[in-house]
Amino acid sequence: MPGTIGILTAGGDSPGLNAAIRAVGKAAQRAHGMKVLGFKDGFLGLMQNRYERLDSDDLSGILTRGGTVLGTSRVKVDKVDVEDGKRVDGREAMRKVVEDHELDALVCLGGGGTARNALKLANVGVPVLTLPKTIDNDVLGTDTTFGFDTAMYIAAEAIDRLHSTAHSHHRIMVVELMGHSVGWLALGAGLAGGADVILTPEIPYDVEAVASSISTRRAAGSTFSIVAVAEGAISKKDAAIRRSMSTQMEAASRPVRKGIKKKLRELEATRSGGTVQLGSTLAGLTGLESRITILGHVQRGGTPTPADRLLATRLGAACADYIAEGVHGVLVAARGESTEAVPLKKVAGQTKSVPLDHPWIETARHLGVALGD
Ligand code: F6P
Repeated sequence: MPGTIGILTAGGDSPGLNAAIRAVGKAAQRAHGMKVLGFKDGFLGLMQNRYERLDSDDLSGILTRGGTVLGTSRVKVDKVDVEDGKRVDGREAMRKVVEDHELDALVCLGGGGTARNALKLANVGVPVLTLPKTIDNDVLGTDTTFGFDTAMYIAAEAIDRLHSTAHSHHRIMVVELMGHSVGWLALGAGLAGGADVILTPEIPYDVEAVASSISTRRAAGSTFSIVAVAEGAISKKDAAIRRSMSTQMEAASRPVRKGIKKKLRELEATRSGGTVQLGSTLAGLTGLESRITILGHVQRGGTPTPADRLLATRLGAACADYIAEGVHGVLVAARGESTEAVPLKKVAGQTKSVPLDHPWIETARHLGVALGD
C-alpha cells in the first residue's frame, strides 16, 4: 500500500486545477490512507525541493478557486534556467527529491508540455502520473481536458456581449481566442456564441473568401458580423510560407536551419498582429467598420464551471485509485463517464488538433458559418 505521494501543477494555469489537487489529495488520504505533499511552482519547485504537506484542512475550500494554490511554471525538466543565465538538466535532482521523500507516485497536473516532461522523468525512474488540464483541449489520449469548458464559457459569453454592440454599430467584430496551435476553443465558443465566421489553425483561411462571406451577409440584410479567430489561425499564404520553410529546413545545413527557425519564430510572434491586420483588411475589402477584441488570459482566470469541477474531481479520485493499484507512467484520461490509464509513451509529445471531419466542423458548415476556406 503506497504511503506518500507528491502533487505539482505545471505549464499555464487553468480553471479546475485546484479541484483536481483537492480530489487527488482527499481521495489519496481518505480512501487509501496516503500522506500528500504539494510541490510549489511546478517542476522548478520539485527540483528545489520546495513543498508543503497537504493535510485535509489545506484541501478544503479550494474547489471553486481559479488558478493553482501550488503555483506553476513553464520549465523543461532537462533544461531548467537557474541563476546567472545558466541552464541545467534537472532530472537527476528531481529524481533524488522523489527518492528522499520516498514518494510512491508523483502526480503532475498539466497539458502537453507536462506530459512530455513527465515522460522524461518516468524514463529516469520516477513513478509519475499526469492529469490532463488545459484550456486548449489539445491533449491526445483523453476525451477532453479540464479548463476547456470554463474557457469556452467565458469566450462564448464575450461573443454574446460583442453581438449587441456589433448590431448597434453595424460593424465587423473580430475576436481572438486562445488555443495555442489548435482551434478547439475558437470552434466551440464560436459555435456556442453564434459567430458568423470561425477561423482555426486546422483550416488556413483566404482573407478574400472571409470578406466575401461578410459582404454576402450584408447584401442579405445582416448589418454586422462576428469573426471568431483562434490565436493560431493562419492565412493560406502564411501556411504556404511555413510549409516551404519547413521543407527548406529539412534539406538545410545546421547554421541555415537556425536562421530558418528564427524566421519561423518571427512568423509565430506576429499572431496577434495578424488578428489586428485581419480586422483592417476585412474593413478595407468590405467597406465596413471593424473592431478587434483580444480576450487573452481572461479565458484562463476565475472559478471553473461545474463541468470542469466534476471532470477534475473524477479524474483526481481515479488517479488516487490507480496509484493504490501501483499504476504509473500514465495519463489519467477521461473516457466517456469513466477513466483510462493511457501509457505516457503513447501520447506525450503529440497534439490533438480538430479533425477536419469533426462533427463541430460539419455543424458549422451546415449552419452556413464561414470557415475561411
Ligand atoms: O496553453 C494555454 C495557453 O493559454 C495557450 O492558449 C496560450 O497560447 C498560452 O497558454 C499562453 O501562455 P502564457 O500564459 O505563458 O502567455
